[in-house]
Amino acid sequence: MENGSRRVRVKVPASTANLGPGFDTLGMALNLYAWIEMGLAETTQIELFGDQMNGVPADKSNLIYKVAQMVFERAGVRHPELYIAMYSDIPLTRGLGSSASAIVGALAAANALIDRPFTDDDLFQMATELEQHPDNVGASLFGGIVVAFWDGKRAEHIRIEPHEQLEVLVAIPHFQLSTDKARGVLPREQSLENAVFNVGHSSVLVAALCTGRLDMIARAMRDALHQPYRAPLVPGLAKILAEATDHGALGVALSGAGPTMLALVDRRSSRKAELEAFMRGTLKEEGIEASTMWLSPDRAGVQAHRVTSADSGRTLFEMIKGENRA
Ligand code: HSE
Repeated sequence: MENGSRRVRVKVPASTANLGPGFDTLGMALNLYAWIEMGLAETTQIELFGDQMNGVPADKSNLIYKVAQMVFERAGVRHPELYIAMYSDIPLTRGLGSSASAIVGALAAANALIDRPFTDDDLFQMATELEQHPDNVGASLFGGIVVAFWDGKRAEHIRIEPHEQLEVLVAIPHFQLSTDKARGVLPREQSLENAVFNVGHSSVLVAALCTGRLDMIARAMRDALHQPYRAPLVPGLAKILAEATDHGALGVALSGAGPTMLALVDRRSSRKAELEAFMRGTLKEEGIEASTMWLSPDRAGVQAHRVTSADSGRTLFEMIKGENRA
């Protein structure tokens, strides 16, 4: 590879959006990651590692390539030929923010490659423009829990440090559900009662997360705007939403647009095995194959650094071995 000294590596977390009532507003970064390496090259070469990359294009139609070109264009520089490598542990189209991670990772990599002309806030604005909702991109960019809104022009956010005892159990069904499909079932108009229900629950949930009131999460993490309409797309969801807190969850929600379901758990709980068995059993009764995974909030958000000369001979895959999950 030409210009081998000018390469960056980025580690970017997955995320969960909504946390129940905070539709398009609340996001939390999770310690499940994608890694991107980007460098200047004579001819574009894109290498994709890992099962999650199946079907992802390895030419200039690749999302990472296209986002990088957007960054260069806005910075007024031209780098049409790039070396890009990517490995991801984040399952695609499951509600764990894989596309937001790819966008944030590409923005951070391209920005680092040209000596960071853009601030984190600039990257947040670009990411929100591309993804259209600030919840997943905000979490992947800033880490922790992000409360955000977008008015179509500017996105604003405040980051909350997650409670140190907060742990996350995700049940990831073995089927894909596109955000478009899961948004397509939502009514275009809602009652004032539902709006008030969600404003109240989302506000109390944010206050509970800010003040460490883990005991309030079960009551606050309820939603009337999207989960009831999405439940028919995810067999088992209605029962899991209704009963997971009886099996030791602090609160439970559809992760983003689904189909993954997410339970918040107190790390010190003695009922983790019971909760996991309940979620797996409920999905199995519905004939849904699913994997469960215990995760923690990621606190760092996206991290970009230059590839040192000591590392430059190793592939991205060799570099991250041991840190990844596969
Ligand atoms: N908040 C979005 C939704 C998901 O629930 O449709 C990703 O931003």
